[in-house]
Amino acid sequence: MADVRTVLNNPFEPGSGAVPPIWVGRDDELADISSRLVPRRRAGLFERGRTYLGDPGLGKSVLVNRIAEERARAGDLVAGPLRMALGRDPLAALADVLAPLVPAGERVAGRVTSALERVREVGLLGARVGMTVADEDRYASLSDLVEGLAVLASETDRLLVIRVDEVQNLSGAGLSQLLTILGDALEMQMPATDVTGNRVMEYAPVVVLLSGLPAFPERAAAAGATFSRRFATTYLDPFTDDEVRAALAFAFADGYEVLTDDGPALVHLEVAAREALVEVCLGDPFLFQLAGAAAWDASPGAVLTAADVRTGWDRVRREVGAHVRQRTAGLTELQLSVLTAAARADGEQANGTTLAQAVGRRASSDIGSTLQALVTKRLLALGPDGYRVVSRAVARSLAGG
Ligand SMILES: Nc1ncnc2c1ncn2[C@@H]1O[C@H](COP(=O)(O)OP(=O)(O)OP(=O)(O)O)[C@@H](O)[C@H]1O
Ligand SMILES: [Mg+2]
Repeated sequence: MADVRTVLNNPFEPGSGAVPPIWVGRDDELADISSRLVPRRRAGLFERGRTYLGDPGLGKSVLVNRIAEERARAGDLVAGPLRMALGRDPLAALADVLAPLVPAGERVAGRVTSALERVREVGLLGARVGMTVADEDRYASLSDLVEGLAVLASETDRLLVIRVDEVQNLSGAGLSQLLTILGDALEMQMPATDVTGNRVMEYAPVVVLLSGLPAFPERAAAAGATFSRRFATTYLDPFTDDEVRAALAFAFADGYEVLTDDGPALVHLEVAAREALVEVCLGDPFLFQLAGAAAWDASPGAVLTAADVRTGWDRVRREVGAHVRQRTAGLTELQLSVLTAAARADGEQANGTTLAQAVGRRASSDIGSTLQALVTKRLLALGPDGYRVVSRAVARSLAGG
C-alpha cells in the first residue's frame, strides 16, 4: 500500500503568498470587499481603497491575492500582483502590471492602447536604459493609462482592480506619485445614464488594494500624500483559536481528499490533533502553515494524529524561534524588557505602572515613550484594563513557554 500522506499532497504551505488550500478566518475583511466595496464601486458610488497592514507572516499578501482571484473569477480586470521591491521605480512597476490588461486590438479601446504606447515610450524605455525622462511626462502617461483602463472596465461592465504589495518599500517622490495616481483613479468620474435615462456622473469602477508592513502610513504621511483619506486601513490580527479550529474542522469534515500512488484517498484529522494544532500555532498564520506541514510529514498514515503534531512541531522548533524573534528584532533593550513583562502577565492585561515597576522604574510615565513605541509597532495593544501582547506566539516565546 502506498503512503497516504506524502510531501507531494501536503496541503500546508508555510511561506507562500499564494492562497492556501486550507483557509482560515478573515471573514470581516472578505465581507467588507464583497458586500460593500464591490457593490458600491459597481454602482458608480465612491468607495475608498483598502490598505492591509501587519507584521511579516500575518497574511497580507494571501488576503489580497484571494480577493484578486475572486475578482478575476468574476470576470473583472485584475492587474498585478505588483510587489514593490526596494529601490524599484514605482511608476515603471505600475506600468508593467497594467500593460497586460490592454487589449491587443487597437479597435477595442483606442484610448487605452495609445496611452500605453506613450507610457512605454517615455516611461519604461527611459527607466530601462537609464535615460532621465521628464517626470511629468511619465506621470501624465501613466495617469492616462489608468484612466483608459478604467474607461475600458466601465464600458465592459467590469471593475479595474489594482493591487500593490510591500508598500513599505516606497518612499519619497515615488511614493507620493504612485499614491496620487491611485488616489486620482479612485476619484475619477465618468458620465453615465441612470435608470430614468438621465445623464449623471459616476465614479469609475476602480478598486485599489495596498498591503505591507505597519511602517507604511508614517511614510505616506511624510511624503505628503493624501493617503489616509483615500484608503481605509485595516491592521490584520492573528487568528482566534476558534477560527483555526473551524477552518480545520471544515477542511477535514469528510476527510481531506488527496491523490496517492494508489489513486485518491482521504486523510482524517483526529480531534486531539486539531486541538494540538490550535494550541501550537496560537493564531499565527505562518506558524499554522508551518505546524500543519510538519505534522502532515510526520507520518504517512491516513489519520493525522496528535502525536504527528507534536513530532512535527519538535522538528520545526528552530524555525518557530526565528519567526518569532524576527518580530522583536530591532527593539531597544528597554522595549524588549517591557514587552517581556507584558508577556509574563499571561494573557491578562497589565497596566502601565505594573510594567514600569517590572523593569525597575516607578511610574507609568517613566516608560511612556517606550509603551507608545510598542503600540505603534503593533506589538502591544492598549485595552480597557491595560496593555497586552498582540501576538500570543510572541508572548509565549518571551515568557519562555
Ligand atoms: N487566511 C489564511 N489562512 C491560512 N493560512 C494563511 C492565511 N493567511 C496567511 N496564511 C499563511 O501565513 C503565511 C504568511 O502569509 P503571507 O505571505 O500572506 O504573509 P504577509 O503578511 O504577506 O507576510 P510578509 O510581510 O512577510 O510579506 C503563509 O504561509 C500563508 O499560507
Ligand atoms: Mg507578503
